[in-house]
Order: sequence, then structure tokens, then C-alpha cells
Amino acid sequence: MSMSRRRFLSLAGGGVVLAAGASSAVFVNTRTPHVALAPWDQAGTYEDARLHALSYALLAPNPHNRQPWIAELVNTDGVVLYRDRQRDLPVTDPFGRQLTIGMGCFIELMRMAAAEQGYGVDMVLMPDGDDGPVARCNFIAGDGQPDPLFEHVMERRSHKDLFDERSVDSETELQLRSFASIFSGGDEKRLLRETAHDAWLAEASTPQAWQESIDLLRIGKSEINANPDGIDAGGAVLEALAFAGLFTREAASDINNPGSRDAIESTANAILSAPAFTLTRTPGDTREDQLEAGRQWVRLNLMTTQLGMALRPVSQALQEYEAVRVYRERVHQQFAQDGSTVQMLGLLGYGTLPDRTPRWPIETRLLNA
Ligand SMILES: Cc1cc2nc3c(=O)[nH]c(=O)nc-3n(C[C@H](O)[C@H](O)[C@H](O)COP(=O)(O)O)c2cc1C
Repeated sequence: MSMSRRRFLSLAGGGVVLAAGASSAVFVNTRTPHVALAPWDQAGTYEDARLHALSYALLAPNPHNRQPWIAELVNTDGVVLYRDRQRDLPVTDPFGRQLTIGMGCFIELMRMAAAEQGYGVDMVLMPDGDDGPVARCNFIAGDGQPDPLFEHVMERRSHKDLFDERSVDSETELQLRSFASIFSGGDEKRLLRETAHDAWLAEASTPQAWQESIDLLRIGKSEINANPDGIDAGGAVLEALAFAGLFTREAASDINNPGSRDAIESTANAILSAPAFTLTRTPGDTREDQLEAGRQWVRLNLMTTQLGMALRPVSQALQEYEAVRVYRERVHQQFAQDGSTVQMLGLLGYGTLPDRTPRWPIETRLLNA
């Protein structure tokens, strides 16, 4: 879920006044959470080839921006990657499937960044089963082939807002075919749109699921800088509302609050506005399959960046808790008759590039720092 920054305006009936008051460029600039965004500028500034690669990997898309990765540097060329179970999302991701997909995105960016410097990465995935590390990696000098998609790593985003009206033409669809299945019309698109939309509303009206997101809200610059993860609700306007006591975690917890209603509607409208949908499927649903889905997803996201497109995961219809089970079943009945697992559902189209999202610096994610 992503809370549109503008949408919370209606929390205060006087939003227009506050927005005007906050329009000073100087004030706006001072409210940018520079600390939380610093890892974007630190990417690629490390001597050690492993830190170099990890400093890019942490820019990976991942559920609720939890950043569940931990890296252990071993000897001079080894990295062991773990998924931090403290960062689980027990309500909306009870089996850690989506968080594991996020680890796959991380692994693929790490591999690409290493290749950029000529390093190959030899990996063993899930070497000790589900309770052990996600991957044991060895960096091998001279063994890496640069990947042209890596060029787009700094501009890659998950889209957050409405899509432009521009449709996705068949030539573009063809260019994306090897990255994901694309649905830009007909009954299949209609079904995906309706299912994604209804599943989103079902999630929003499930108190425990909604609360899991609200607990991860970071309101304003100092909260975002202190915890550069989760759902960042920053910017001058929201901060002014928060300062005035009009935008609080308590208010946002109540889905009938006008601001919450507006945020829910904004995501519903974003789903309805998407000109196309993407599906990422894997033959099974093992941890290895989930990691592979993440690798495919981030490659798709880099390719859409190259094409100047906007892509956003919309996951509610694939989640594994009771309130959305019917949507997951529907998607699988329609799109996975061969017994495969649908791992990612995406909204695809065009739109303005969103801001960078916060990240924890690599130094804070190292086991033996
Ligand atoms: C497995 C997975 C599931 C996600 N599900 C959603 C979702 O349902 N809705 C959404 O808006 N974003 C979703 N995201 C995107 C994340 O919120 C986003 O990657 C994160 O906030 C970081 O932002 P960035 O990708 O722009 O760097 C998902 C990402 C992953 C990897």
C-alpha cells in the first residue's frame, strides 16, 4: 500500500490554506529527509567489491520498504545473505513469500552491480533450508559480464500515483514479453483490474491488515530519518498537518476518517487507471521460486524504466490471509491453470517519476560491522 502524500490533505478541511503556507521552496527543501535518502548517493562509493555491490542492492524494491536484508562479509570474497525475521509482515505476508521476493530483487541488483565491476557472483540459494541464510555468495574477479539493464538502477521506482491516459502499444508489449506476461485489453485485463481493485478494498477494510501498514507509517522528516523504511509520509504539507495535530497515526488507523478514505480511494483509482497489467509466474512456490520471481520483477522494473514507463506492484489479490483468499484463488483459476504460482501482479503504464524512497545505509545492515 502506498499513501499518496497529497491525499492526506483532506484530513484538514483547511488543506488548501496549509498547502499555500507551505509552498516556500526553502521550507520544502528543509523538510526533505536527506539522511534517509543518503544511501542513494552512497551507492557505488565503496572500495570493497562486495560493499560496492551491496550498496546498489539495497535500492531494491521490497514489500512495504521493510528492507529485510542482512549481509555478512566472509573472508575477502564471500557474502552470506539473510532475511531479517524481525522485519516480517505477519498479517499480510504470513509465509514471508513477498519478503522473499524482495530478497530476490536484492540479489539480482547485487549480481548486476558486481558484474558492472567485472565480478561474477557464484551463489548457492537457501543452502541450509528455510531456517538458514537466503544465499551464500562468492565474488569471482574477471567472471562478470555487465548487464545493460543496470544503467537504469538509479531511476527505477515503484509507481505510486494515478497513471496517465496513454495506453501501452503492441510494440512496447512485445519488448516486455520476455520479462513478464502483459495484459492490456479484453476480458483478462478486465478480470485483473476488478480483482486487484476488490482485493485492495478488502484489505483496506480488514483492521489487522490496515493496522500493519499504519504501524509502518513514518510521519514527517524526523521520523523518516530515524526509521528510513516503511511507508514514508513526508513533505511540507503533511508535516504541517502533523504539527497541527491533524495527521496522526491514530487518525490514520480509522479507515472511516476522511483522510484514510481518501488514501484508500486514491489507490483504488490508481488501479482503475492502469492501462495494462503484468503477471510474474513461477513453476512452483518454493523459496527458490520466490527468489527467482524477485529477480524477474526487478529486471522488468529496470526494463520499464528504460522504456520511460511506470510500474507498480499491487499485491493484495495474491496475498495469503483469509480476507483476500477468494481473490488469490480467482487469479490462480484464471491465470495459473498449469499449476504454476502467480508471484507478482503489476500495474503498468505511464506517469511521472516518483521521489526516491528512504533506505537504511549498508553499514546498518551488516552482521559483522
Ligand atoms: C513483493 C513486493 C510486493 C509489493 N506490493 C506492493 C503493493 O501491493 N502496493 C504498492 O503500492 N507497492 C508494493 N510494492 C512496492 C514497494 O512498496 C516499494 O518497492 C518500496 O516502497 C520501495 O519503493 P521503490 O520501489 O520506489 O524504491 C511491493 C514490492 C515488492 C517487492
